[in-house]
Amino acid sequence: MNHKEALQHIIFKYLADASTDVGIESYVIGGYVRDFLLNRGDAKDIDLVAIGSGIELANRVSKILPNNPKVKIFKTYGTAMLRYEDLEIEFVGARKESYNEDSRNPIVEDGTLEDDQNRRDFTINALALSLNKNNYGDLLDPFNGLSDLQNGIIRTPLDPDVTYSDDPLRMMRAIRFATQLNFTIESSSLNAIAKNKERIKIITKERIVVELNKILESNKPSVGFKLLEKTGLLELILPELTALKGIDEKEGQRHKDNFYHTLEVVDNISKTTDNLWLRWAALLHDIGKSPTKKFHDKIGWTFHGHEFVGSKMVYKLFKRLRMPLNEKMKFVQKMVLMSSRPIVLATDVTDSAVRRLVFDAGDYVDDLMTLCEADITTKNPQRFKKYHNNFKIVRDKIIEVEERDHVRNFQPPVSGEEIMKTFNLKPSREIGIIKEAIKEAILEGEIPNEYEPAFKLMIEKGKSLGLKPEA
Ligand code: CTP
Repeated sequence: MNHKEALQHIIFKYLADASTDVGIESYVIGGYVRDFLLNRGDAKDIDLVAIGSGIELANRVSKILPNNPKVKIFKTYGTAMLRYEDLEIEFVGARKESYNEDSRNPIVEDGTLEDDQNRRDFTINALALSLNKNNYGDLLDPFNGLSDLQNGIIRTPLDPDVTYSDDPLRMMRAIRFATQLNFTIESSSLNAIAKNKERIKIITKERIVVELNKILESNKPSVGFKLLEKTGLLELILPELTALKGIDEKEGQRHKDNFYHTLEVVDNISKTTDNLWLRWAALLHDIGKSPTKKFHDKIGWTFHGHEFVGSKMVYKLFKRLRMPLNEKMKFVQKMVLMSSRPIVLATDVTDSAVRRLVFDAGDYVDDLMTLCEADITTKNPQRFKKYHNNFKIVRDKIIEVEERDHVRNFQPPVSGEEIMKTFNLKPSREIGIIKEAIKEAILEGEIPNEYEPAFKLMIEKGKSLGLKPEA
């Protein structure tokens, strides 16, 4: 990609003219330039660095744009933002900044372009395109960011110890970019992350989660989680996952390494769904295995009840990371809770088991199947094929059973009120017993999910309880 083509949009003409008007040099920098050179689609966020007041430049840009968009000013940071069509343009004055030891808030001083580039996170994010008359469209690249971009390398402009310690969020960003772009973090950088890992504690949970989500939304999230593990960050952020690491052996019995298994499941599911929350469910589906692990003579290793324990852990984890405690969290909990259910069906598919699955999973049954298919990580090709074939049968049966029995969002064919009327009952235990018997008979396939047979069964069941139908 020729970098000059990055400035084709009309907006750059306005930005350049405004710069000339106010006598402030300006450069397009960061993600916009990086993504253009990587051919990563049309970026909508443009970061502009002004050698002088970013706010003054933004005000001038707004004046000369046909629609005079509103300029939003962030006084504390000395930055400004405006929108033009679908673009969001951020104006920052060049900084020569140093950070406080225990916060990310920088002490800002005026600086040159080079000062500003020095203080950016990675060489690939420090590439700048000039908007100035004398060298319009030139790429200013003091740290060979272009060659790092071509060779797929994440490198910091300064000593990595300084860059990461200045802003520890960058440790997460390095790993996130490595995952998204399939780049390698250069070794002194990786060592510096391991060394500075404890400083992640000064970063808000919300920002950490933004990066975790971006890692999970990548094509191959395991790349990021392996790097997080290797640098020691994962232990600090998601200890539930590192607790799954390792293989124990007793009396010749071994269990699989549930950490690496989990990462395989996440990579698998990422090939079939973009649903972030389903990817979270894959990441967390086995977290209950660490606290429930036991060794029994003869039987070997067990993880009894890990799905239930895991679903409780999901809540604590979401709360700790300040993630939403809403229906997304409930969805992840439900997936974790039910994650082993279809496995039983992978070896033996029966109609009634499928009906129960649909009944319990409701609208989430397809997502649950997707999770369980991703969970097949056996290296035995025969077994792999057999499990997948059986899940295909389960999926077909789900459709068949659903068309026939409508148990997905089950509504009892005979209502409680009708039972009361029929047997002249006040609200009582018997009503529950009869309703349960009808539901069970439908799920077991003994009667279809229809009014007539359900009514008949109600009469029979009522009689067996000693009740008499009204004449
Ligand atoms: N930046 C930085 N340190 C950070 C965050 C950002 O040095 N902790 C700089 C980088 O030069 C970055 C630019 O600010 O390119 C813009 O940051 P941001 O919009 O957060 O990220 P992008 O690089 O644009 O990438 P993405 O949109 O994928 O997050």
